[in-house]
Amino acid sequence: KPKIVTCTAPVNIAVIKYWGKRNEELILPINSSLSVTLHQDQLKTTTTVATSRSFQEDRIWLNGKEEDITHPRLQSCLREIRRLARKRRNDGDPSLDSTGLSHKVHICSVNNFPTAAGLASSAAGFACLVYTLARVFGVEGELSGIARQGSGSACRSMYGGFVQWIMGEKEDGKDSLAQQVEPQTHWPELRILVVVASAERKPVGSTSGMQTSVRTSCLLKHRAQSVVPERMVEMIDAVRRKDFPAFAELTMKDSNQFHATCLDTYPPIFYLSRVSHQVISLVHRYNKHYGETRVAYTFDAGPNAVIFTLEQHVPEFVQAVQHFFPPDTNGEDFIKGLPVSHAA
Ligand code: DP6
Repeated sequence: KPKIVTCTAPVNIAVIKYWGKRNEELILPINSSLSVTLHQDQLKTTTTVATSRSFQEDRIWLNGKEEDITHPRLQSCLREIRRLARKRRNDGDPSLDSTGLSHKVHICSVNNFPTAAGLASSAAGFACLVYTLARVFGVEGELSGIARQGSGSACRSMYGGFVQWIMGEKEDGKDSLAQQVEPQTHWPELRILVVVASAERKPVGSTSGMQTSVRTSCLLKHRAQSVVPERMVEMIDAVRRKDFPAFAELTMKDSNQFHATCLDTYPPIFYLSRVSHQVISLVHRYNKHYGETRVAYTFDAGPNAVIFTLEQHVPEFVQAVQHFFPPDTNGEDFIKGLPVSHAA
């Protein structure tokens, strides 16, 4: 009889960006990063893992289509979970699940949002995969180090609320882990809106983009060594104090510097579109109009804007967006209001 477990994991949005690895296999970053995990019911991945002695091999389906299980990052996650399960069994943990370690798994994963549109689908995807596999094999405890080996940003989706990924120093990556800074209940008024400028796949993926940046951008080196360490301290402080203007300014500056390092990459990488630039101008004009920082934007490896604001300003800002981007003139635009909440 097969054993079946289903879990969900939400997307996280980085406000201090991860861009660049010091170790490609282990996925170790050149700087720490900080993100906000969305609510469970919003942008999320749902993964079902079945295991049975009758399965001949491990298999995976993503959004209904079978994918290559031999992908090295998938293999890392499967191997690490099975290794932990074996270790616990050898240590004689009585609560250990009886699921056979030799049993093969069938994995089925679906997103409720467009894949690879710069909306951090790999983060939710690998976080969910690792969490679900852990449940199947009865593994508990620190799992962000395994999720990290699927996709760097995935380690942050293992926790809810405000999460930092501490870069670590060790060669083996054992200290490169995610850690919750504050739970989602800490700042209930904070809201996240996604302005979808395009749901198309991004031309340059994060993995190869950051490789080229590490090789060619001296601005990235400067950012990792001299900018991010201080910014992490300031950001954690802004989050703890729920200081929206400070949080917002750091978020926008960090997004802008990340995209500046993309331009500094050779050949340059362009993730922002004309619509993205219009959203940036709109936010600055909006804040100026009210004489205070009420709204912030951030962009990942794609043109879609992620907006942070406080609950009381949502209707007004949505109105401003709809005024500047009327739905009939730009059919693919839509805006979605998302409350911030906790993870698996
Ligand atoms: C711009 O985590 O997708 O979203 O580790 O190669 O899988 P890999 O990269 P990925 O990179 C995310 C980059 C980013 C910034 C961030 O989320 O911190």
